[in-house]
Amino acid sequence: MKKDIDWQNIGFGYIKTDYRFVSNFKDGTWDNGFLTEDDTVTISECAGVLQYAQTCFEGLKAYTTIDNRVVCFRPDLNAARMATSCQRLEMPVFPEKRFVKAVIDTVKANLDYVPPFGSGASLYIRPYMFGSNPVIGVKPAAEYQFRVFTTPVGSYFKNGAKSIVLRVPDFDRAAPLGTGHVKAGLNYAMSLHAIVDAHNQGFNENLYLDPATRTNVEETGGANIIFVTKDNKIVTPKSNSILPSITRKSLLYVAQHYLNLNVEEKVIPYSEIKNFKECALCGTAAVLSPVGKIVNHGDEVIFPDSSDGMGEITQKLFDTLTGIQLGKITSPEGWIQEIS
Ligand code: PLP
Ligand code: COI
Repeated sequence: MKKDIDWQNIGFGYIKTDYRFVSNFKDGTWDNGFLTEDDTVTISECAGVLQYAQTCFEGLKAYTTIDNRVVCFRPDLNAARMATSCQRLEMPVFPEKRFVKAVIDTVKANLDYVPPFGSGASLYIRPYMFGSNPVIGVKPAAEYQFRVFTTPVGSYFKNGAKSIVLRVPDFDRAAPLGTGHVKAGLNYAMSLHAIVDAHNQGFNENLYLDPATRTNVEETGGANIIFVTKDNKIVTPKSNSILPSITRKSLLYVAQHYLNLNVEEKVIPYSEIKNFKECALCGTAAVLSPVGKIVNHGDEVIFPDSSDGMGEITQKLFDTLTGIQLGKITSPEGWIQEIS
């Protein structure tokens, strides 16, 4: 039986669900892992994650489709990205096939928490890994824990479908040859001061510039960015220091193959964004959130077609992508993982 939750109004927070998956890495191998009702973690006070932030994570969602199946979206790509994160952070890779199975098993164990079709909510899935044994010299841990938990979520930005406002902060998100391209917890830790400061000043999120020259657009703290040109081309930043978003990759495919639109991934100088008519953030949590305005130290850029909700092209992208995720539109081969 579905849980008695006000699905329409849950926002993006943590709601404890019944089961989570846990596997431990010791003596060079991962154990079989298990599902547990225990939502707590007990580790050494000196664990690698607590001292040197050796942790990375993933985020994906499960949906109830129009014909009442439960599915999740491209978990194989999250498995592959987590492998890249682990390699960059000197952590052992959790085998990609096992990652996908752990995601499926965890969602299956929490089916009562998958929001119903039409609620606009989904079940957010959070796989993550951390160094668990004592580490005091600066080196990788020898033991790790991989976990997957789930939590029902609604929209990431409080104002839902309304346009958000970004500001260019006086902080960088990533170093030129740093960890911006992987999903390391440390990228988010260092963004916290910038996000609190942005919120205090009335902005929804920070738009980071490229760390080497601070002249090109990169991404926000938790999502990639896309722009639409006056002739309906989708343009998105090319950079080695942004997270390769699975939502963005999927949107670019949808734009080309479902909507017949041109797409271009390129270096985008900040000075050129005033020429775009629509802007949106994209990501698992953000889905596609319209951006109305970007403020850079008093200089404002307003996107005329997305200043008051999604622009026309963004809306088409949104409808097609979510249509695929919800089983309303035929999916490209391999995008939809059946769960039940
Ligand atoms: N960029 C950052 C910094 C993120 O945290 C996320 C969220 O995962 C994304 C982009 C979007 O990636 P994805 O579409 O794979 O969720
Ligand atoms: C996601 O979209 O899955 C993320 O990890 C972003 C995070 C800011 C919630």
